[in-house]
Amino acid sequence: MLKTHTQAEWIARAQQVLPAGGFGNFDPGILIARGEGSRVWDEDGKEYVDYLIGSGPMLLGHGHPEVMEAVLEQLPRGMTFFANNSKGVELAEAIIDAVPCCEQVRFVASGGEADMYAIRLARAYTGRDRILKFEGGYHGMSAEAQMSLAPAKRVNFPQAVPDSAGIPQGVADQMLIAPYNDLEAVAALLAEHNDVAAIIVEPLQRIIPPAPGYLQGLRDLCDRHNVLLVFDEIVTGFRLAYGGAQERYGVTPDICTLGKIIGGGFPLAALGASAEIMQHFDKDRVGPDKWLMQLGTLSGNPVAAAAGLKTMEILSRDGAYDHLRNIGRTLQAMQSDALTKAGIAHQICGDETLFDIYFTAQACRDYRSANHDTPARNTRYNAVLRENGVFKSPGKLYPSLAVTQADLDLTQEAVQAAVAAIHSD
Ligand SMILES: Cc1ncc(COP(=O)(O)O)c(C=O)c1O
Repeated sequence: MLKTHTQAEWIARAQQVLPAGGFGNFDPGILIARGEGSRVWDEDGKEYVDYLIGSGPMLLGHGHPEVMEAVLEQLPRGMTFFANNSKGVELAEAIIDAVPCCEQVRFVASGGEADMYAIRLARAYTGRDRILKFEGGYHGMSAEAQMSLAPAKRVNFPQAVPDSAGIPQGVADQMLIAPYNDLEAVAALLAEHNDVAAIIVEPLQRIIPPAPGYLQGLRDLCDRHNVLLVFDEIVTGFRLAYGGAQERYGVTPDICTLGKIIGGGFPLAALGASAEIMQHFDKDRVGPDKWLMQLGTLSGNPVAAAAGLKTMEILSRDGAYDHLRNIGRTLQAMQSDALTKAGIAHQICGDETLFDIYFTAQACRDYRSANHDTPARNTRYNAVLRENGVFKSPGKLYPSLAVTQADLDLTQEAVQAAVAAIHSD
């Protein structure tokens, strides 16, 4: 008979072979065995409504039949070539059609890699070194990105605090850190420093929305100082709208990065900009000194491109984003209503397509104000949701298009249980 392993056995095995018992991404106390549609199952067979959705990519849910068909059509033709392939070219065309700032794109394998090249591209184009980023903004794992994401100590702006060991001090010296949603702070920094290549920003920072006029204010400041504006759209691309945050908020950056959804659940990401900026990837056009060397074994992988293309095609159909927003709105309202009724101070923060709760009465504008009054309350709330069959990260809830009325009903019951638990604590 086939031997099955309990989740506890898998966790014990993981602890032997993986540092900190995991992949570094998520709670190592759970292993997901299977996903289908809006649901996932853990290694003990417990079923959950999935609001983690692979940290964003599975916007259509797991194993969408049309995406599976596209992948299964590609698989027997080859899994990776390194050479150019037509699926990758089609994907580039579809991205350029959708995303305002993109006249050309370059593919990479992960969002963090796309952000790293976006920073390098801005430096190559402007001939300047300094990068302005926002405290709490996440842009992957490059040395520049690992500055003041979740600073262990509170220092004065614009000093950068490395989030990781192993980063030379010289990198921090090239960074300016500003509070999100504060145009005056950015204006003052750009007036003082004439060597800034780019501002890199998540247009929706984690789940903190831009204040009205904020992104346009950044655009104007960048134009005034000849600084490039980089939107990290790894999360927001094809989520906030088909054309991403730049479509939703009506502000076009110079460079954007895309990931997650455009790979349909496979490793693929991209950066895009005008042909003039992107020419720095073309040695024949800019010459060896201004050329940005870039290659990667899996870049433009045809299986990922096929999955991404089909995912995007489905998203482009009539009503997809209205439906997603309706689901998000329902999930927001059911939590907010239950918490309000119980007299628990909270903010629903984010966009209907991506949000979470802060247990505080204070408005969340930036990294320092986006806090739970009692972090233990958030931990408990999410733990009770999980016990009751709702799977999400402790800081985000990702609605998917696969969510059904039955999922919403189950979620409603889990929310009632979680609110009751924190109310009685
Ligand atoms: C805004 C943002 N940028 C970059 C990344 C990094 O992408 P990846 O995990 O594919 O490297 C993420 C990942 O969650 C992200 O949320």
